[in-house]
Amino acid sequence: MERYLLRDDIWWAGAIDWDVRDFHGYETSRGTTYNAYLILDEKVALVDGCRDGFGPEVLARVMGCCSGRPVDYLIINHVEPDHSGAIPWLVERLTPQRIFCSKRAKETLAFYYGAQMVQAWDPQVVTTGDEVALGRNTLQFIEAPMLHWPDSMFTYVREAKTLLPNDAFGQHLATSRRFADEVDPAVLMEEASKYYANILMPFGGPIGKMLGKIGEMGLEIEAIGPSHGVIWRRPQDVARILEAYGRWSRFEAPERVALIYDTMWHSTERMTMAIEDGVAQEGVECSVLRLSVNPRSELARQVLESRAFLVGSPTLNNNMFPTVGGFLTYLKGLRPKDRIAGAYGSYGWGGGAVKQVDAELRALGLDVLDPVDARYMPSAADLEACHELGREVARRVKRGLEP
Ligand code: FEO
Repeated sequence: MERYLLRDDIWWAGAIDWDVRDFHGYETSRGTTYNAYLILDEKVALVDGCRDGFGPEVLARVMGCCSGRPVDYLIINHVEPDHSGAIPWLVERLTPQRIFCSKRAKETLAFYYGAQMVQAWDPQVVTTGDEVALGRNTLQFIEAPMLHWPDSMFTYVREAKTLLPNDAFGQHLATSRRFADEVDPAVLMEEASKYYANILMPFGGPIGKMLGKIGEMGLEIEAIGPSHGVIWRRPQDVARILEAYGRWSRFEAPERVALIYDTMWHSTERMTMAIEDGVAQEGVECSVLRLSVNPRSELARQVLESRAFLVGSPTLNNNMFPTVGGFLTYLKGLRPKDRIAGAYGSYGWGGGAVKQVDAELRALGLDVLDPVDARYMPSAADLEACHELGREVARRVKRGLEP
C-alpha cells in the first residue's frame, strides 16, 4: 500500500471514500477522504480516526508505516461519526496506551459509544496549551469549539510546524493525490469553498476568533493537514487557504449575483432571464441556478461567493414552491450575513410565495430589495420590472452594502 509522508515524522494514514455522494445532505460529487495522521517518533501517535467501515484501510496504512511498532497514543480531535465511527474498532486492534481528547469530546463519545466503553478507554482530557511530548516532536492542543462542533480540537505538531485541525480547511475531494499542489487549483478551491459554505458558514465569528488566536499564540504553520481532502504543504498553499478562511469568515464576496429559483410553467423562469439580462447589462457576473437541477451544496457555495442573491418562486397552493422552501430552510441554518438579497416570482389566483420568500430573507437580517411579482405569465411591464430589478441589484453590488 502506497505510503504518504506529509513531512518530518508525519505520515498520512487515512482512507479514501470514492463513492459517497450524500454527506448528511451535502452532495459530495467528488467523494471525500477521512484523513488520519501517524507521527512516528519515540512515541507513536495517531491523530484522528475515520468513518465506520473504513477502519481496515486506516489500520492497513498504520501497519504499513509502523513496521511492527505499537501505536502509543490516539488523539481524537472530533467526534462526528465520519471521524469517530471506526474508533471503537481501531482502539480494539491498536490498543493505544492513552487516548487524548477535549472535555466535550469525552462526553460526546459516551453518547455515541456508551459510557462503559468510554470509561474503559479512560481518555485523558486536554485543553488549549496542553502538550504531549513524543520525542523529537511535541503535540500541542488547541480547543476549537464550533469549528464545527462543540468538541472540536486542533492538534499542532510544534517542531514540524504542522497543524492538524480536523474539519477546518478541508474539502470533500477523493483523489489519489494527497497534496494541494498536486491537484487542479480550480477544483481544489471550488471544493474548499463548497465545504466552507456548507459546513462552516454559520461559524464565521468563531473562525475569525480562531484565526486571531493562532496569530496570538505565534504558531508557525508551514503545513495544514485537514481531515478531509488534500493537505496544504507549501507556504503559498497554506497562505491561500488561510486567506480564503479570513475572507469567508468576514462574509466578503466577489461582485457577483446568484439567481436561485424554481419554476412551474416557465413564468418565474422568464422573470429570471429578464433579471439576468439586467445584471449583465450592468457588467456584473450572474449565475442562474434552478433549484430542481442544482444540489443545495452548490447553491450554498453560490451564496458564499456572491455579494447578492435573489430567490424566485412560483406560488403553489398559496405557498412558496417546495424546492424553494427546502432551500430557505437550509439557508436559515447556514446563517449568511452581509448579503444583498431579494424575492421575485409568480402567482395565479392569489399571492403567497413572493411575500413568504421576502419575509424569510428579511428574517435572516439581509439587505433586502423590494420584491417583484407577476400574475400567471409575466407581462412586458413585469419583465421590464424584472430587468430593472437586475440592474438595481447589480448597481448595489458594485456600491457595496448600505451602511
Ligand atoms: Fe468531518 Fe464534523 O466531521
